[in-house]
Amino acid sequence: MVKFGMIGGGMMGEALISRLVAQKMFVAEDILVSEPLPARREFLANQYGIKVTANNSDVAIADVLLLAIKPQVFDTVTQEIAPTLQQQSQVTSLVLSILPGTPLAQLEVAFPGRAVVRAMPNTPATVGAGVTAIAVGIHTQPHHIEQAQQIFAAVGEVVQVPESMMDAVTGLSGSGPGYIALVVEALTDGGVAVGLPRAIAAKLAVQTVKGSAQLLQEKNLHPAVLKDQVTSPGGTTIAGIAHLEQSGLRSALIEAVRAAYQRSQELGR
Ligand SMILES: NC(=O)c1ccc[n+]([C@@H]2O[C@H](COP(=O)([O-])OP(=O)(O)OC[C@H]3O[C@@H](n4cnc5c(N)ncnc54)[C@H](OP(=O)(O)O)[C@@H]3O)[C@@H](O)[C@H]2O)c1
Repeated sequence: MVKFGMIGGGMMGEALISRLVAQKMFVAEDILVSEPLPARREFLANQYGIKVTANNSDVAIADVLLLAIKPQVFDTVTQEIAPTLQQQSQVTSLVLSILPGTPLAQLEVAFPGRAVVRAMPNTPATVGAGVTAIAVGIHTQPHHIEQAQQIFAAVGEVVQVPESMMDAVTGLSGSGPGYIALVVEALTDGGVAVGLPRAIAAKLAVQTVKGSAQLLQEKNLHPAVLKDQVTSPGGTTIAGIAHLEQSGLRSALIEAVRAAYQRSQELGR
């Protein structure tokens, strides 16, 4: 019996599997992953003790099925597994999809009658520090939503949104790691510009971003409160902030989210 099936054993799929097994949400032997690359199958089986197959239809009968393929192969994969889905008498399974730009309506055509949850995780999920937005389909019951939340909670935080907000989620948390990478790189360059060795500057930059985020989160601080706390009159931080305001940091980030949101809408059309 396959309790958890996954089609596509790539980077994001592995991140989920590794944590689902480590957190004992599923027993490794109850997990089956289909993946075309033999070396990748062998790696996943050896590393996590899970079962692997080259045949996507074997996985289609899982209680919970996660689609972790690229959207480009969605049609091929769903046509391949359609006969198996039709033969399946019980239609109680939960289908989770992390495919960007693939709407619930399209998923529900491919998985008729199934509870479907569309999810958008982000890259920090690969180290267990992601945030995943989920939107639920028309056949989803409260227990399905709870199960989906528990599964994605294995790789970070989970929020539920209406599907209409998925492009906005993509613009913020989906693309956000890219924005923050730029911030860390620029802070590092700033440190180098004022005389720090690059390795030390890089460590200071990444830990400052991580620590500030952790502080905001753990103390549930509004960002303005933290900013006020660290700006002494006539001090160094307010001098830096004045420069950031003059350079339009806030509007640059707001417009970055808007641009990514619009691009996500375009790609989904
Ligand atoms: N990584 C992220 O941070 C992130 C965030 C949000 C959403 N996503 C989405 O999550 C999905 C997976 O992302 P990823 O980063 O894990 O990508 P990935 O590493 O490329 O994984 C996709 C996997 O699917 C396999 N595959 C290709 N064709 C297949 C087929 N016909 N049947 C079964 N498996 C097939 C690929 O195998 P081969 O290597 O042999 O081609 C690969 O192992 C994508 O849709 C991505 O956009 C990713």
